[in-house]
Amino acid sequence: MNEKSFWLGKTFDDFLFRPQKGITESRRNINLASKLTNSIKLELPIVSSNMDSVTGSDMARTMAMDGGLGVVHRAMSIERQARKIAEVKRSQSAVIENPLCLPIDATIRQAKNFANKNNITGILIETEPGSGILVGLLSGRDIPWNNNVNEDLVSQYMTPVDKLITEKPGISTDEAAAILFDKRLERLPLVDAERRIHGLITRKDIFSLRERPDASKDEKGHLLVGAAIGAHGDYLERSAALLDAGADSLFIDIAHGHSSVMESAVSNVRKQFNDVSLVCGNIATGEGAQFMKDIGADAIKVGVGPGRGCRTRLETAAGVPQLQAIREAYETIGDSIPIMADGGIKTDKDIFLALICGASTVMLGSALSGTDEAPGQIIEDPVTNTKKKIYRGMTSPQAVLGSLYESENGDEIDAALDTPSEGQEIQMPYKGSVVDILHRIRGHIQSSVSYAGEISLAAAREKILSDPERYLISLSESSRRESFDR
Ligand code: XMP
Repeated sequence: MNEKSFWLGKTFDDFLFRPQKGITESRRNINLASKLTNSIKLELPIVSSNMDSVTGSDMARTMAMDGGLGVVHRAMSIERQARKIAEVKRSQSAVIENPLCLPIDATIRQAKNFANKNNITGILIETEPGSGILVGLLSGRDIPWNNNVNEDLVSQYMTPVDKLITEKPGISTDEAAAILFDKRLERLPLVDAERRIHGLITRKDIFSLRERPDASKDEKGHLLVGAAIGAHGDYLERSAALLDAGADSLFIDIAHGHSSVMESAVSNVRKQFNDVSLVCGNIATGEGAQFMKDIGADAIKVGVGPGRGCRTRLETAAGVPQLQAIREAYETIGDSIPIMADGGIKTDKDIFLALICGASTVMLGSALSGTDEAPGQIIEDPVTNTKKKIYRGMTSPQAVLGSLYESENGDEIDAALDTPSEGQEIQMPYKGSVVDILHRIRGHIQSSVSYAGEISLAAAREKILSDPERYLISLSESSRRESFDR
């Protein structure tokens, strides 16, 4: 990119695009499909950030249900992160292949803890630990919440197998749905003639599958989920556990991705898990994008310092204005591997600009924070009577300390405490469910595509990407005021 470039120093508030003749009857039919990697497609090109105030299992599940993707953060133990991945993978498919079971001699206290920990409402009961032979089902309604009976055995409260309706493995989703609805059942265990458990179908999953044709799913019908790993310490062990739990894509996420640390991490992960889908970042230059492509990333995360919780540019002066960075990356590697624009999205128009300047997907942190699905408690301010949730950069002192609670590695703790912060914590207004935010974003991108005179995001992207100076208008200070001051 030369010093006269149209893009130099430019970011989201520096452009509008020239409206084109609209050609759609209804904006709501506009298709927004895009690529996370060359082999993973998303119907909604939105990805939730791998931050501890943005993406845990609730957020990841909701993102995938709505056609996007959630990337579960890594500021926790390997076991906990793997459990969160497994929760998402288990939550949405016609058949839960390895339903969670408790043995018949478990107590009600154990069942309550088990249900809480795994976020489930019904537990299959087996003859003995690991036998896989069904003896009953303990549904949420069967579990007494009276604490006096905590030491009673689950066998006293479960529905025994001879009173349960079960089906054979291999039943079709439609047949299972008919049985669940006709017999008003919540769950249908799949067992063979020896009562060996082969799966579980739930009414809730069938409902959601039918209602969400755009959900992001793997070939078995399970929701897609991403998982963050680092490039130091336990990342290989973490990768193994996350892939085992079903992660569809690993995000090697470090602040300065254009580095030898990234190079050796990618090489080591590839050596051990050859065909894993790897999204790598962050970089902010054409050279960084070329580097990522050369070392074998399947997608590249672009963004150094634009994020709402970031202090990198303030503290180090390193960074590239975000639209310039996206365009530089695109001009260098084109569509050979997809680019994810990460950070700095303040309004929905920024998402469309990122997409038509070179990104295939857009990662959002603060825009999705403060919601029910984001981890963390709602804080009620007694003075203003307003509700808030915390949003914090992952290198903020608060996030660093939070992540260390689960670490037993003294060197890691010392190193983290010794690294000056490049992030900050912010109180976000509480926003309700992220579903409403995703609905709004989808509608706004569809409207942008319509103004761009196309019937799909892919077509709008292709048209504008090939000749951006024809379609984009660079704004003056006064036109910026006219456009955005309200
Ligand atoms: P937004 O603007 O969507 O940005 O809230 C989310 C992205 O910010 C990045 N991130 C950080 N960057 N210091 C940084 O410089 C941090 O502590 C930090 N934490 C998150 C990250 O790329 C995220 O997706």
